[in-house]
Formats: sequence, structure tokens, C-alpha cells
Amino acid sequence: MQEQHAGHDLLVVGSANADLVISVARRPAAGETVLGSDLAVHPGGKGGNQAVAAARLGARTALLARVGDDAHGRLLLDAQRRAGTDTAGVLVGGAPTGVALITVDPSGDNSIVVSPGANARLTPADVRAAEALVAGARVVSTQLEIPLETVTELVRTLPAGGRLVLNPSPPAPLPAEVLAVCDPLVVNEHEARFILGDGAGETPEEWARGLLALGPRSVVVTLGAAGALVAGPLDGVGVRVASPRVEAVDTTGAGDAFTAALAWRLGLGESLVEAARYAVRVGAAAVTRPGAQDSYPTAEEVAAR
Ligand code: RIB
Repeated sequence: MQEQHAGHDLLVVGSANADLVISVARRPAAGETVLGSDLAVHPGGKGGNQAVAAARLGARTALLARVGDDAHGRLLLDAQRRAGTDTAGVLVGGAPTGVALITVDPSGDNSIVVSPGANARLTPADVRAAEALVAGARVVSTQLEIPLETVTELVRTLPAGGRLVLNPSPPAPLPAEVLAVCDPLVVNEHEARFILGDGAGETPEEWARGLLALGPRSVVVTLGAAGALVAGPLDGVGVRVASPRVEAVDTTGAGDAFTAALAWRLGLGESLVEAARYAVRVGAAAVTRPGAQDSYPTAEEVAAR
């Protein structure tokens, strides 16, 4: 039986970007020019994506983020409100809305360059001012498209017993104080190798073991179409969770949907393995449709798969 909770199931503290997306036959190499499709503009950003993914699944979700006072900012706020996110914590102004330039190839793989814009102005003071929002959430989820000092302040603002899920993307060296509260630290292969550096090893089990030694309470390594590896005090060397087989159209934002679903289910009291089993189904659904937020499933769609 789920305990009653007055606040939000999930608070996402993170970035909101306008995704400027072009489909290409082949992503360009250095010095190369390729022609692509017409430009599509979608709501995105790792924080915004997580919030929409959770809200669409039915989680009571709030977003703490900063957008510009411009057309992109309004696009992003509208998308959050349509999904049902509580946007009272979204701050407006200070810089133009963040933008992500995204190319997607026919296999669904993407390359992304982010101009942080207003995301870089989400400050530690903004987190302190939102202390009640932080305290009222079952789980808080964040990423690294906002300043690291803001993430560190979030860690300091968490109430005793508060649960933090961190996807260190794009990867950066993490202070021990931040690593110590991650439960879990959610990484893909690239992020795992960056954090571990030389001697990372070659298998997800080795990465998980190395990452756990750095201090997080638990670790999830996402493995794309192969699912995820879950590692924590109850999971031995790690438990592999397989993903359903799907035809990938666009992988943009699938990791954000996975992480949001995982964080939400953890807040409902599921174990890491149970939450990951649900989250891989959400991530798999997200790759079958184009875009990030536009591709996210409802709980009914997940159940029907
Ligand atoms: O994870 C996908 C997201 O990364 C995109 O929506 C883009 O905005 C970048 O932040």
C-alpha cells in the first residue's frame, strides 16, 4: 500500500531546451557539410524531458528550471502544462532559452550540441528559494545541463532521507558530496567511461563496480537496446534488465524517459530492479516515435505493449 504524500511524486531540477532537429542520411564528420530535412522545433532539454515523461505517466511532477522570456520559453512552458507538470518552479528571464541542435540519422542515432542559455542561469540561490518544493518531493531528479554548483546546492538542500537520482549528462567530474547521495547514479557507457577514466574496464558490471566504489548508494548503467544493469547493496555484482525489442526511429530523449520512469517508480516504493523493469519499457516506447517529449508514452500505452 502506497503511503500518502502531500507534495510531488517527482521534482525535476534541470534544463529546458528548444530542440532544433534535422534528419540526415549521415551525421557529418569534422569539416563535412551534409544536407538534411526541413527543420523541426520540439520541446526538449534533459530536465524538461524528464518532467514531461513522468507527468505523462501519471506522476505528480514539478519542474525547477529557467527559460528565457521568448518564444522558445513559451513553447517549453506550454509543453509542460499540456503534460500536466506543475510549472510554478519554472523561472523566466535572465538569458535566452537554451537551444539544442540535433541531427538524427536513419538508424535513430543522434548528435546534440547544446547552447545552455537560461539553463546556465539556474543558480544555487534559485534552489534555496525552492526549498519547500525540494522538501515536498518523494524523489528529486537532476542532470548536468545546469551548473554543477546548482546541483551541489540541491544536494545540500535535500532533507534528511531525501532521495536523489542523478544522470550526469553531459558528464563532468563530480564532487564526492554529490556522488555520495546518488540513489541511483544513472549513466550510459559514455558517461561511465568519462567518470571512471583510464582503467574503467570493458563490461557494464566492471563500470558499475567502479562507480559504486566512488560512493553512490546505487548505480544504473543504461545499455540502449540491451536494457540496463542495476547495481546496489541488494543487487550483488549487478542485475541485468532486458529491454523489449522495438524498431528504433529516434533515440533522442529515450534516456530521459527511462530515468524519469525509474525515479517515479522508486518513489512509489519499488526496488531498483522493479523500477528498472518498468523504465526499460518506457524507454523502449520512446524510441519508436520521433522527437523527445513528443515520443513519450502514457501509462496505458506502456501497459498495452
Ligand atoms: O537527452 C535529450 C536532450 O538532450 C534533448 O532534448 C536536448 O535538448 C538535450 O538536452
